[in-house]
Amino acid sequence: MSMQIQAAVFHGADIPLKIEELTLADPKAGEVLVKLTASGVCHSDYHVVLGEWGAQTPLVLGHEGAGIVVETGPGVTGLKPGDHVALSWTPSCRRCRYCVAGRPQLCTNAVQNAYRNVLPDGTTRLSRGEEPVYSYLSVGSFAEYAVVPESGAIRIGTDVPPAIAALVGCAVTTGVGAAVNTVPVTPGSSVAVMGAGGVGLSTIMGAALQSPEMIIAVDIADDKLELARRAGATHTINATRTDVVEAVKEISGGGVDFSYEAIGRALTIEQAYASLAPGGTAVVVGQVPTGVKISIDPMAMSGRELTLTGSNYGSSRPSIDFNRILDLHRNGSLDLDLLIGQRLRLDQINDAFVALGSGSPARTVIEYT
Ligand code: APR
Ligand code: ZN
Repeated sequence: MSMQIQAAVFHGADIPLKIEELTLADPKAGEVLVKLTASGVCHSDYHVVLGEWGAQTPLVLGHEGAGIVVETGPGVTGLKPGDHVALSWTPSCRRCRYCVAGRPQLCTNAVQNAYRNVLPDGTTRLSRGEEPVYSYLSVGSFAEYAVVPESGAIRIGTDVPPAIAALVGCAVTTGVGAAVNTVPVTPGSSVAVMGAGGVGLSTIMGAALQSPEMIIAVDIADDKLELARRAGATHTINATRTDVVEAVKEISGGGVDFSYEAIGRALTIEQAYASLAPGGTAVVVGQVPTGVKISIDPMAMSGRELTLTGSNYGSSRPSIDFNRILDLHRNGSLDLDLLIGQRLRLDQINDAFVALGSGSPARTVIEYT
């Protein structure tokens, strides 16, 4: 028995998303039907909207979602109807060498399927008439309901507000994880974070957990930098008014030990790298438009032993890390509420992208009734 649902559908770059009625088939083996309660609007949705990343259409965007399990498909043992879940966009296969080694963010199968916007069996549960409709990163959370792989729905406490649960599904896990899992900030060190959007603010909060001497936040908007202070930044730099690399070096006395780029631009990745102290590590967290290349100085890399590395989904293991992060929020160590800006309805989704494009402070969250 399939159902009819409302969803925001992407048809091509620069075309506003359209609210349409779609057919959602029942969950198959290893899948669950989730009623969405909230979905954050992330820059990775926006990359697709802008045409910076290609994607099959029609496509239901949204990958930072939370909801309640309504129905489970055959063979699902870890979830039951009524469970509250935050959705993961790397629904790990639990069998490949990365999954077995505890690195599900690199799961070979999840990457293959989620990045093609299909479920693990290579198909989609959404359709409009005869035409298949894809769900972004195997999630598709700009919809009333979604069918997702069991490993893509992580059970969380029933006390977690939907908007918070949704943000844990992407920005928070990506940002906190970069500074805690991928390249852990060390006590007493100096840190720079480029970009104070949902991911960058989360990176700052993750860094702050580990008692660095300083966290320098860089953004082009003063209201973002104000939020960065609340997230734990000790210094801020407005990149529209100052030479970023010079300013970071001046504040830190010659460069930082760790820098995290949470924007996804060549210039800011190069700045993150150029801001390092000898022995420092720059971490690319942001994702660039397809094809963008960076330019770095290899002489500095060898002579000063610099490291440039990347972080995907905060090197997280969602089934462990979502709930760890939520515990840190409960005990006041992470103030995830400061990430939430405006709350909109699904039919206001295009306003959310306008806000994201114009750099509105904090995250827009779509809430479902
Ligand atoms: N210098 C400094 N800050 C900048 C610059 C710049 N040249 N350009 C943009 N910014 C700031 C914006 O003002 C904004 O605060 O970067 C921030 C980006 O935040 P969001 O748009 O909210 O993006 P977010 O969802 O946090 O994602 C950041 O991570 O996962 C990836 O695909 C995602 O590439 C994206 C990145
Ligand atoms: Zn995201």
